[in-house]
Amino acid sequence: MAKRRLLWRFFLSAFGFLGLYHYRLRILRHIEASIPMDSCPTATMPPPWDNFTGVLRHWARPEVPTCTSWGAPIIWDGTFDPHVAEQKARRQNLTIGLTVFAVGRYLEKYLEHFLVSAEQHFMVGQNVVYYVFTDRPEAVPYVALGQARLLRVKPVQPERRWQDVSMARMPTIHEALGGQLGQEADYVFCLDVDQYFTGNFGPEVLGDLVAQLHAWHYRWPRWLLPYERNKRSVAALSLGEGDFYYHAAVFGGSVAGLLKLTAHCAISQQLDRERGIEARWHDESHLNKFFWLNKPSKLLSPEFCWAEEIEGKTEVHHPRLLWAPKEYTLVRS
Ligand SMILES: *[C@@H]1O[C@H](CO)[C@@H](O)[C@H](O)[C@H]1NC(C)=O
Ligand SMILES: *[C@@H]1O[C@H](CO)[C@@H](O)[C@H](O)[C@H]1NC(C)=O
Repeated sequence: MAKRRLLWRFFLSAFGFLGLYHYRLRILRHIEASIPMDSCPTATMPPPWDNFTGVLRHWARPEVPTCTSWGAPIIWDGTFDPHVAEQKARRQNLTIGLTVFAVGRYLEKYLEHFLVSAEQHFMVGQNVVYYVFTDRPEAVPYVALGQARLLRVKPVQPERRWQDVSMARMPTIHEALGGQLGQEADYVFCLDVDQYFTGNFGPEVLGDLVAQLHAWHYRWPRWLLPYERNKRSVAALSLGEGDFYYHAAVFGGSVAGLLKLTAHCAISQQLDRERGIEARWHDESHLNKFFWLNKPSKLLSPEFCWAEEIEGKTEVHHPRLLWAPKEYTLVRS
């Protein structure tokens, strides 16, 4: 009897092991998809609300968290009316800035698709001003712009390493916010160029400090998140710290909010550099530290910055922005 049980156990674990080996990624993804996510403690908190979406219809998405523990809304498809947000923003005659960095080969590879898709989907019907930062202003492609939309090209120094290009964004955006961009825009979004819009990205995303949930990490337990853990770095978070893992490919806010964010990140990066340290995920690590200390007033669901290769996520209904295929060997060499 005992022998037979042992034999069974042996077979089961051998099959289990082989199966796991064979399908390990898919199985891990399925396990991940079954980790429960928090939902909104509506009984103890007023329903999330803001100037652009009004009251969020969190009951429309009971399977996902629609607010944070500090009461900020998490914007999911179906919880707001895009037309209401559009009209509320329109009435205030807002100007929305969009900054993007196209340095080195990122320019040819991604900028045109990014801009053309932004013309179709980003803040349609609002006043928009694009700020394209590049080391080759003359190579910026011509893109036909709609009414009340304009594009400014700003020269930046080329950097040798893509990590430096990425980190140079914070001081550069800070400087722009202190100048013309800060004067002409009410809200600004700062996006990576290697992605493109596939759906409406409207005023429902606007807020004082707006953070993007990372498509790969939004279901992970906190202690597994790829925060900087080296205590010597200014970006360090200890095991008990951190709320969510935010993606540096999308962040935004009011001019005042972003001045604070970019100043924090620029100074922290400089302090690390003086100590000879570079945070694990560069500017993203510092951004995550900033949002731990200064809670974002609005979070965007992964629908607002999605990666198509992630499978089996039924909660993602309508991606607004997709990662372009990453051809790192081509653009980073
Ligand atoms: C909402 O709009 C009002 C009037 O424009 C403004 O004073 C207030 O700060 C806004 N609230 C938020 C949370 O953005
Ligand atoms: C709306 O804002 C634009 C750009 O800032 C400005 O040129 C225009 O005069 C404003 N319109 C109204 C009606 O205030």
